[in-house]
Amino acid sequence: MNMDELKRQAAARALEHVRDGMKLGLGTGSTARHFVDLLGEKVRAGLNVVGVPTSEATRIQAEQCGVPLTTLDDVDRLDLTVDGADEIDAALNLIKGGGGALLREKIVATASDRMIVIADDTKWVDVLGRFPLPVEVIPFGLAATQRAMAAVFAQTGNSGHMVLRKGKDGHVFVTDGGHCIVDAHLGQITDAPLLAGLLTAIPGVVEHGLFIGLANLAVLAGAQGIRVIERR
Ligand code: 5RP
Repeated sequence: MNMDELKRQAAARALEHVRDGMKLGLGTGSTARHFVDLLGEKVRAGLNVVGVPTSEATRIQAEQCGVPLTTLDDVDRLDLTVDGADEIDAALNLIKGGGGALLREKIVATASDRMIVIADDTKWVDVLGRFPLPVEVIPFGLAATQRAMAAVFAQTGNSGHMVLRKGKDGHVFVTDGGHCIVDAHLGQITDAPLLAGLLTAIPGVVEHGLFIGLANLAVLAGAQGIRVIERR
């Protein structure tokens, strides 16, 4: 079975948690894309839901699939967000932002009563950090922000190098919010909750890809089947 099929299986399992009338956060990335696709099939068959997309890419896909959309200005809380992740640990803390949508993803997940993270089982890790940690930053004062980030890494016992993300066209990658992303190659993150709080406190940092205590359930698809892990 190929990876894409596993991602679709995880998405299909998450869809079982969707009920008529729900307000949904719609994630971004190749796994979340399967969820939106399958959700669209249900909507066309009569399911009544409304979604808030976490990126322009997901907004366009959801519109094409016929999923009715709203915004967080028009609804106060969402029932459920379903999104992918780049890494998931046993506490269901996540690294997200590989697709560059981490800011909207975190706003939407935080506005949701529940978050289900869907992934193939290669995303499951003992310790977060093998995947470079995406940090969304304001272009102004970029070098100063990176120095502040380096100081926070040192303070928390983390080390590694930082890379300003480039797009496929070779130009600096720009997020839906008009910001840049610095990918921090840390290898293993020591005390992710502490690092998360300190990064948030840096003025030039808009948001970072550590999702601490946001996911309630992980649906992991692998060659041996689907594993569902609930946050304790
Ligand atoms: C986008 C994300 C994605 O959810 C994450 O990168 C996983 O993507 P994929 O499902 O394609 O592996 O955080 O910002």
